[in-house]
Amino acid sequence: MQENGSLASTGHCLASGPATVAGAGEVSGAGRLAARVAGAGPARALLVVGGGFARRPWRSRVLEGLAGTSLEVAVHDGAPTPGSVVALAAHARRYRPGVIIGVGGGSVIDAAKCAAILAQTPALDTGAVRRLCADGAGGQGLPVIAIPTTPGTGAEATPFATIWDTGRGRKLSLRGAALLPAAAILDPDLLAGLPGAQLASCMLDTLAQGMEAAWSAAGDDTASAFGQAALAELRGPLGAGPRPPGAAERRALILAGHYSGRAIAIAGTTLCHALSYPLTLRYGLAHGHACGLTLGRVLAYNRAVSGGDCADPRGPARVRQVTDACLAAVGAAGPAELSRRVAGFLAAAGLPASTDFGAATGSIVADALSYDRAGNNPRRPDPGVLVRLLTAAHEPHQ
Ligand SMILES: [Fe+2]
Repeated sequence: MQENGSLASTGHCLASGPATVAGAGEVSGAGRLAARVAGAGPARALLVVGGGFARRPWRSRVLEGLAGTSLEVAVHDGAPTPGSVVALAAHARRYRPGVIIGVGGGSVIDAAKCAAILAQTPALDTGAVRRLCADGAGGQGLPVIAIPTTPGTGAEATPFATIWDTGRGRKLSLRGAALLPAAAILDPDLLAGLPGAQLASCMLDTLAQGMEAAWSAAGDDTASAFGQAALAELRGPLGAGPRPPGAAERRALILAGHYSGRAIAIAGTTLCHALSYPLTLRYGLAHGHACGLTLGRVLAYNRAVSGGDCADPRGPARVRQVTDACLAAVGAAGPAELSRRVAGFLAAAGLPASTDFGAATGSIVADALSYDRAGNNPRRPDPGVLVRLLTAAHEPHQ
């Protein structure tokens, strides 16, 4: 197996990601890949899919691609929670697969990644999940093949997984080198049939991840290059709006999502993601929708960085240079235009582009600052400024 030309032609170092094949129809080789990843002989695989799998137009192509594989299907519906990943890991322990294959959006792939680790963990309960999220996941898990069917999270390329501890109002992250999938198949045909609102949210997640990784104080030049590569791929589909993408747009979207994953795998995300977590937990906003709401204003905030509040050791000039490069990559003249375009994009998808959080704004900001993603922001986040930023998020951006 090898990286195909569309990835290699970016010129980026691909050594740190999963073994990746990309191209229309590549899911037909999933069974051969599973056998290779699992070791000698026909693969015994646990196929993890989302609740909508049975309705997707490409369902039969996935199953045909896995013909010859000894297969059990596990449905993981909704966002991963401590309880849901424990249940999935228990399923894996019973079935004893040689490989876990996650086919779906970021939630499905993250659930598969968590189950692969937890299936090999002595204690298997929600307390152990929370402890692993706090301490980090060491050791080896079962190998995972990630096959994304949404163009957003880049979960196939990251050594971490998001778990929503909804009962306690916290977003957790399970992290460790073993979380990185062994292999990924990027088949743009699998983006067909994605509902419009979900497509829009995924695209805004890609947009936020590309920008945030590019300007993250925890990043490097490679992360910045991957982030900007994601934005360059996204530019065309973003301009076209949240309508069903054609073949060329699907290819651009799946590459954009993957590049954004490669970028955040190095650099992490920053303030938009930190602010998004309480918005998702409290108001149920889809992840990319929640990230997109503050993107233009956070960009403007970061662009106005000074020597006194710069958190990036490379200095404020670098922060301004990279924010301008991000704007140029998506073809926006400035932060206000970026905000207007995101708002128009949300409106076209039928998602609210203006949200007033009222008296809760202060505690949303306090919650956001408690996530370590906020510490990656290149300009130190001032709570008072963030309250004003979030308050202004429902007003026209001047
Ligand atoms: Fe994200």
